[in-house]
Amino acid sequence: MIPDSFIQELLDRVDIVDVIQRYVPLKKAGANYSACCPFHSEKSPSFTVSPTKQFYHCFGCGAHGSAIGFIMAHQGLGFIDAVEELAGNLGLTVPNEGRQQNPQYAEKKASLTELMARAARYYKDQLKASPRAIDYLKGRGLTGEIAARFGLGYAPDAWQGLESIFNDYKAPELGTVGLVIDNEQGRRYDRFRDRIMFPILDARSNVIGFGGRIINPEDTPKYMNSPETPLFDKGRELYGLTQARQAIRDTDTVIVVEGYMDVVALAQHGVGNAVATLGTATTGDHIHKLMRQAEKIVFCFDGDKAGRKAAWRALENSLPHLADDHSIGFLFLPPEHDPDSYVREHGAAGFQKLAAHPTSLPEFLLRELANPVDTNTVEGRARLVHEAKPLITQIAAPLLRLQILKELASMSGLTQAEIENQYGLKPAAAPNRRAPPAPRSRPSARPLEHTLLEIVLQQPAWASRLPLELIPDTSPEAATLHALANSLEHGELPIGGIGLLLEHFRNTPHEAVISRFASQLAEDIDPSEQETVLNDAIERIRNAGIGQEIAALTARARSGTLDADEQQRLMDLLRRKNSYKPMASS
Ligand code: UTP
Ligand code: MN
Repeated sequence: MIPDSFIQELLDRVDIVDVIQRYVPLKKAGANYSACCPFHSEKSPSFTVSPTKQFYHCFGCGAHGSAIGFIMAHQGLGFIDAVEELAGNLGLTVPNEGRQQNPQYAEKKASLTELMARAARYYKDQLKASPRAIDYLKGRGLTGEIAARFGLGYAPDAWQGLESIFNDYKAPELGTVGLVIDNEQGRRYDRFRDRIMFPILDARSNVIGFGGRIINPEDTPKYMNSPETPLFDKGRELYGLTQARQAIRDTDTVIVVEGYMDVVALAQHGVGNAVATLGTATTGDHIHKLMRQAEKIVFCFDGDKAGRKAAWRALENSLPHLADDHSIGFLFLPPEHDPDSYVREHGAAGFQKLAAHPTSLPEFLLRELANPVDTNTVEGRARLVHEAKPLITQIAAPLLRLQILKELASMSGLTQAEIENQYGLKPAAAPNRRAPPAPRSRPSARPLEHTLLEIVLQQPAWASRLPLELIPDTSPEAATLHALANSLEHGELPIGGIGLLLEHFRNTPHEAVISRFASQLAEDIDPSEQETVLNDAIERIRNAGIGQEIAALTARARSGTLDADEQQRLMDLLRRKNSYKPMASS
């Protein structure tokens, strides 16, 4: 974990306008800056950057966030990498995960990366020198251009081939990055021999690992991958992401396939937005990363039984990460095909046609669950609901869950409420019948805590003025107001723009609330009016509280059970109520 104080310091010192300016040409427009949005294609600028809020927001696609968020989204980096990138530009060192005790960490990592870069160069050169390897790639329909784009190489058929480029072949670091293997007799040899080499890149295009495919069909295993190393974490990395980034952005879709060759062959045919997991199941980390890249994720696994199993694993690992503004689909190729063979036989157009209509996640989920049971019987339907429980209850995305529950209800002959009851789920969005209709005199029935939040997000110091005892934290907005006031009270609340607040609450439920409001704040309340609006809202809340107390006391007054103190209290309350004048404008 990076300490919060460091994030605050970083965001204090960095200017979001400078940061974004490095990637997107910004134009001054009043107090803000604007540009065409880098996250979706558009002709007129709807992307704005606010220096005062240290926040960016696109009115077109809704992208928004702090400087850190921008780097994450634009460069496809994780939180820690984005922080490191920003810190690096300022010459700050990130105190992090034991790195503090080991200031050489970055240096060491850089030197390991350098070893991998040298090996990649070597394999590339060896490919140029091997007609046999070149023929193999040609035979699989690849051009030199695509081979170069993916940095493909060839590891020669030699036990110590790498000795020719590394002065110190005995260096422990070569073992650390997985380029060599030490046998039990202490003899060292190259891990990859007589294989086509696929370099695996991180978001900064550093080589962090390799996949190697046999040329000789008798050799095993067919594919060999780098082991997990300090550079390479298989459960997080995706093959081909760097090369696919632009196409992913253009289509807002990322296609996930199983094999190196699938990615490369799809790219060869002009389907550039494919990535592959690296011989592992799709993990939650993968899903998380994929969702940052695009709105639509399409898993395209082989048409065989193993492919179906892999798809199901991907589905299971996706459930906790689903979001209503993303879609996940599954593409099932005919059993004899994988994406590589399919695109070769049917071309890009044929593949795109399939990819445009994937099986939706809810459909796949329910279809697979219903498959082994007989829904014509009572037992079968009960079993279906039972089997679905551990899966559906993992889904946090309310609309998606609702959609699946409704479907499951119709399949099982139960009502949605009955299933929710069985699962111990709160009804997703049952209409609250007891809520009184909004009074006609006040056309904007906007909850007061929304107004308060809007003001406090712009003037965090005013959180101390909130009458918290009158704001039950029963809504996310109210809970965020409480959290803001709490942080302020403990001297932890960063003052200096919404970007800072957002980072302060990163990975808490308040993050989503704040970022939602931050986007709406674009239509700012005039600063001179902020205080009036705040006071008015506070007054109304007080008044609502007074109203309830008055009603209770009046009811008892009618039955004649008020004592003297209570009578006095009622009179005070009535006086206060009558002296309250709501703002004329609302
Ligand atoms: P496949 O066996 O489906 O091969 O492995 P493929 O992608 O169709 O490869 P080609 O077309 O025969 O060249 C899919 C993925 O599973 C991993 C690799 O990541 C491969 O890309 N794999 C496969 C291994 O890690 N080891 C193996 O021995 C086989
Ligand atoms: Mn294949």
